[in-house]
Amino acid sequence: MQSISNAVTLVLAIGNSIDLTSAAHAGFHVQYPWSSRGPNPKVRPELKDYSSFCGDIIHNPQKYDRNTRTFLSFSGHPGDIVTVLYTTNRVPRKRDDFSHLILQDVPIKPSGQLCLNVTIPFRTELDEMGVMYFEAKDPSTGKTEYYCTDVQMTDMEALPEEHPAMCAGNNETLIPMPDEFL
Ligand SMILES: *[C@@H]1O[C@H](CO)[C@@H](O)[C@H](O)[C@H]1NC(C)=O
Ligand SMILES: *[C@@H]1O[C@H](CO)[C@@H](O)[C@H](O)[C@H]1NC(C)=O
Repeated sequence: MQSISNAVTLVLAIGNSIDLTSAAHAGFHVQYPWSSRGPNPKVRPELKDYSSFCGDIIHNPQKYDRNTRTFLSFSGHPGDIVTVLYTTNRVPRKRDDFSHLILQDVPIKPSGQLCLNVTIPFRTELDEMGVMYFEAKDPSTGKTEYYCTDVQMTDMEALPEEHPAMCAGNNETLIPMPDEFL
């Protein structure tokens, strides 16, 4: 028993040191939909099978438009390559668990911002809950950083041009404003 939980601690410690080394490179931030899962949770040896890949599930996921043109918005290091995946598995354990591709290998602009028109390219159910995976990769080193966000697929309109505070299209100073959606 004891040795198993030590092994879990060791694996998480290795994971953390990878994060620290990549922190030397400017990270990235998801402007919209905003990240709703925190960093990896603390070690909980009593839950050995619990996956820490995405952190804890959030029970009030961000609503996301499933049918019409909406957007994804990032800020980060110019030239870093962004990929976004999706799964209805709410406890994904690895990148491969995200079976749906939303966008792939789009570089962050020289301004350090990226806002893209996005229409979800696969079928979803109304009110379906899932997890989006956002990854930014430094193409020169291959280092990646990622976040997960819980989303609920909804029919609503969220056009990028109507949300300039969240759509990092140009070189605006961005202040994420969740209230915009209330
Ligand atoms: C964006 O704004 C920053 C700060 O004002 C400026 O230094 C940078 O050159 C701008 N980038 C572009 C691509 O306009
Ligand atoms: C998004 O789509 C609208 C409507 O087609 C277009 O006017 C706008 O330029 C597009 N924006 C980007 C960043 O591609």
